[in-house]
Amino acid sequence: MLEITNVKKFYGMGENATAALKGVTLTVDAGDFCVLLGASGSGKSTLLHIASGLERPDGGSVKYDGEEITALPDKELTAFRKRTVGFIFQQYYLLPNLNVDKNVKMGADLAGNRDYRKIIEAVGLGDRLTKLPRELSGGEQQRVSIARALAKNPKALFLDEPTGALDEETGRQILEVISATQKALGFALIMVTHNQNIAEMAGTVIRLNSGKIVETNHNSAPKTAREIGW
Ligand SMILES: Nc1ncnc2c1ncn2[C@@H]1O[C@H](COP(=O)(O)OP(=O)(O)OP(=O)(O)O)[C@@H](O)[C@H]1O
Ligand SMILES: [Mg+2]
Repeated sequence: MLEITNVKKFYGMGENATAALKGVTLTVDAGDFCVLLGASGSGKSTLLHIASGLERPDGGSVKYDGEEITALPDKELTAFRKRTVGFIFQQYYLLPNLNVDKNVKMGADLAGNRDYRKIIEAVGLGDRLTKLPRELSGGEQQRVSIARALAKNPKALFLDEPTGALDEETGRQILEVISATQKALGFALIMVTHNQNIAEMAGTVIRLNSGKIVETNHNSAPKTAREIGW
């Protein structure tokens, strides 16, 4: 489904140039759960941004079902992103003047999905529909952003440290919702985390170091959100 081939990314110029990605190749199929590990600055977020079409690489290609998104003009790339990918960032980017229901509906509308309320229920915010983001805790805001991304029915869902702001119980609940939604919808799931335990839920675990993949492990018996340590 998602094919990333020899992707390179440089920031800055001349002596100050940073090679954030130095030729990364990986494939993620529909239904796969792939975890990205690596030290701070190793290129994890950069790779997510490029894989999801938020940023363009300086070399290499990104293909979805054979379509090279790296070659699309800006307008089409934006349209592709709206239609096809879900992204859950370290910051939540909720619209401050829209309540929980409307923030999630915004994601659902992009995919023409009218059945988004049950996702709000599933992330445990069924009783918060009319609250504005500023009336919610950090963890609740993050759950809204997760519901908004899931409500889109994405082909690929990218998560950058999704459980950082959540306590253990809520973190497990969110991972269960994401995993159950993935089983139902069959999207490719790519998650950055510093949590080794969460990596045990993934079928594929990739370690980045200085912009390169240095290790790939396949997990024949991934654990569920209830089975992992925390
Ligand atoms: N917009 C940018 N401008 C300049 N340099 C950048 C930019 N974004 C990232 N970098 C650099 O690229 C490298 C990779 O950054 P990236 O954010 O991908 O790391 P990361 O693995 O996500 O780290 P963290 O775990 O801290 O989130 C770092 O050296 C970073 O300083
Ligand atoms: Mg990062």
